[in-house]
Order: sequence, then C-alpha cells, then structure tokens
Amino acid sequence: MLDTTPPYPSPESEPDAHSAAAPTPSSSEELWDIVDHHLIRYGGSFAPRLIERARGSYLYDQQGRKILDFTSGQMCATLGHNHPDVVQAIHKACEGVLHLFSGMLSPSVVELAEALCKLLPPTLQKAIFLNTGSEVNEAALRMAKLHTGGFEVVGLSTSWHGMTAGAGASTFVAARKGYGPTIPGNFAIPTPNCYRCPVRHCQDQCDMTCLAVGFELIDSQSVGSYAALIVEPVLSAGGIIEPPEGYFQRLQDYCRERGMLLILDEAQTAFGHLGSFFAFEQLGIVPDILTLSKTLGGGLPLAATVTSADIEADCYDKGFLYYTSHVSDPMPAEVGLAVLRVLTTQNLAERAATMGAYLKAGFLKLKDRYEVIGDVRGRGLLLGVELVKDRESRAPNPELGAAITHRCMELGLSMNITALPNMGSVWRIAPPLTVTQEELDEGLAILEQAIIDCLNK
Ligand SMILES: Cc1ncc(COP(=O)(O)O)c(C=O)c1O
Repeated sequence: MLDTTPPYPSPESEPDAHSAAAPTPSSSEELWDIVDHHLIRYGGSFAPRLIERARGSYLYDQQGRKILDFTSGQMCATLGHNHPDVVQAIHKACEGVLHLFSGMLSPSVVELAEALCKLLPPTLQKAIFLNTGSEVNEAALRMAKLHTGGFEVVGLSTSWHGMTAGAGASTFVAARKGYGPTIPGNFAIPTPNCYRCPVRHCQDQCDMTCLAVGFELIDSQSVGSYAALIVEPVLSAGGIIEPPEGYFQRLQDYCRERGMLLILDEAQTAFGHLGSFFAFEQLGIVPDILTLSKTLGGGLPLAATVTSADIEADCYDKGFLYYTSHVSDPMPAEVGLAVLRVLTTQNLAERAATMGAYLKAGFLKLKDRYEVIGDVRGRGLLLGVELVKDRESRAPNPELGAAITHRCMELGLSMNITALPNMGSVWRIAPPLTVTQEELDEGLAILEQAIIDCLNK
C-alpha cells in the first residue's frame, strides 16, 4: 500500500532516533576534541575561539567573550554581522521561497538584477547570480573564452581569484603547489608592489616597468590565443597592493591591443569598501566583465558576473552553459536586495571613506611610534599594515606578525595577516562599513597594546 505520510517530521513529532542518540556537546573541550577528530583542516589551523553569536562589529565566543572583528568575517559582512535588514530578508525568503529549479526565476532575482544594473554603466547590464567569488570568476573566464575564441588568461603574480579550476589557475599568490597541472594558457605578470618592487627597479614610486616587462614576457610565450586578463582593483590576499595611478588604463590598452577582455574582480572592493560604490569608478576604466562576490551578500553566499548585452548575446548564441544547483537562488537574492537598499539609503560608501581615513590616520600614528610597522596603505575601509624587522632592510617579520595577531585575539580583536614568501607580513583590515569611530579607537588601542606586549617579551 502506498505510504502517504510526508517524508518530513511534523512540528509536533518526537525527535527521531538519530537526533535522540546524538548528545549535544556542551563544553568547549568536547567541541575542540570533535574538531580534532572530524574536521578537515583546509587552511592551516583554526582560530582558537568557537564563535556562538555575532552582532554588528562584534563576535561573541562560547564563553561570552567579545571580539571586535576587523575583517568583517571573511570580508563579507558588509553591513556588520546579522544586520537586522539581512535577517529580515532571510525571514522573508523563508516565508516565500528558498530554492528553485535552476532554470526558474523568482521576483527577488529579477529585482536584484534591476537594482544592481541601475548602479552600473550601460556596458554592464547583464548579470548572472551565483554564490562564491570563485564561481563568478569561473563564469567570467568561460564567457571570455567563448566570446573571444581564445583560451589564454593573464593574471597578476600575487592575485587571488578563487579555488575552482579556472579561477585557481589565475590565482598565483598561493595554493598552486602539489595539485598537478593547472589549466594550460595561464600566465602571470608582476604585481606592481612599489614597497617591494618585483623587478627590483623602483622604490615607493612605481613607473610601471613591471607591466611593460610582464607583457613582453607573456607575448613571447603566448600561442596567439588570448582570451582575458583578470585583476583585482586592490590585490588583497597579495598584501593590499594598490596599483599606481594610470595602471588600469594602461592595462586596458594592453588588453584591447591583443583582443583580450578585461575582467575586474571586485570581490572585496565593490559596494563601498574603497569609498565609492565600485572601485572601477576610481580607476578610470569600465571592465568588459565585472565580478562581484563577498560584499554583495553581506555574509551570505551571493555573487554576480556582470557583462555587456553584446557579450552576453554572443555567448548565448554560442550556447553558453553555466548551470549550477544554486544559480539564481531566491534566498540570497532577497538578501542582496536588502544589502543594496541599506548601502544606498545610508550612504555607506561615503561613510567608509570617512571612517577609513580616520582609521588610516590611526595606523600612521602607530607607524610613527613603532619601527616594526614598515608601511600603511590602502584606502577606505580596506587597509594594509605591513610589518618589517627594520625600516632600512624592509625584511618581512612573519614571527612578530603571528605573535601580535595571536595577542590581539587574546585581547579581543580579530585581525587577518598574510605571510607568504616574498610578500611580507601584512594585516588586511576591512571592518564592516557600519563600524563606529569608538570601535575603530578600541581596535587601535588593542593593536597598540598587543604590539607593546609582544615587543616587550
Ligand atoms: C579578490 C577575490 N576574488 C575571488 C575570491 C574567491 O572568492 P570565494 O572564496 O568566495 O570563492 C576571493 C576570496 O578571498 C578574493 O579575495
């Protein structure tokens, strides 16, 4: 006989045997024991606190200790943690629809497409909504290859574009060794890092020799099948490197001369972090393809690839396929709408410029007081502070960086440090755009205390 009971529990039903059998672990030791036994370590060791709650700029661990979050999670909690409008959008989606067949659309996705494209220039009017930065770069690279008919992709030598095959092949800063061949036809040009000139040519003032030399090298290796160049406006994982004035225009010229599309990866820079809605507004270019991720979902997995109607039409005619389980999902779209609404109504890009200038001035004061701070850079609320052994040699100081970062966490400040060979140790600072001046003061005070404690050890 056909069983007509629904295959899910009714709200009144008793817990099933599985949930009854699984005890709820309570003590921190028990949970860390489970971590040791059952979690794959995907990026070194885990941060030493279990976070139970988050609001605004703060995290709260299991013991209720407060941690000021200077990286807005993984640079995603644009409006701060658990912003009420984001929470409300999630509730709205729960009342409406969470997930659909990938070929089906919801009003939230359509409205998000319109809201996003209204903020963009006429050549960026077609969007696809996915979940992660890796995915949208993957989609952008596929579109560039299909549209141009080429396959060669150029990136910058300290770039990070994601973990999937295509995005990973253009990620040069880490995660390349030990996984076999990457996709053929991927090349790197030197990152224009004027604090550590990659061609040992300039100091503190990049004259873009690295760009010219880089393209000479690529041209000599190319088999004549260029598709795209992919670049971040500020190389974040690469140590918060801001290419010099005029770099992006020159980069676009190099691309046009070679028939390549310029893909701008604004995972960390879009939606206000640099003090404008999009970074490209400050760079004097409009990319052929724009990728948006982290900051768009305000902490939820939402990302977009945006391009021109012409490129989209050509790809469509050529049978473009980018079908994933969560493409056009309604729930993150609802959240994206809320994020855009709050950003625009509260003018948060402008706020990021003001708060960023205040924070940068605070770091510069610390630089005046501590020789180990070699450089302070970045703009808006995406800043970098580089640690050195001494100002003269500029030798990186990863041991001190790790010690101060650890001490900051003990004192209640979460900081993120990059410490990769040839790059130096750089704190990447990206608080939520809603951060207050008092919170910035608190973070600066904790950082100074941690520096003092570690230098006096
Ligand atoms: C500039 C940039 N692009 C792409 C990515 C990849 O995004 P995701 O981790 O969401 O796949 C990152 C992640 O840090 C990033 O910083």
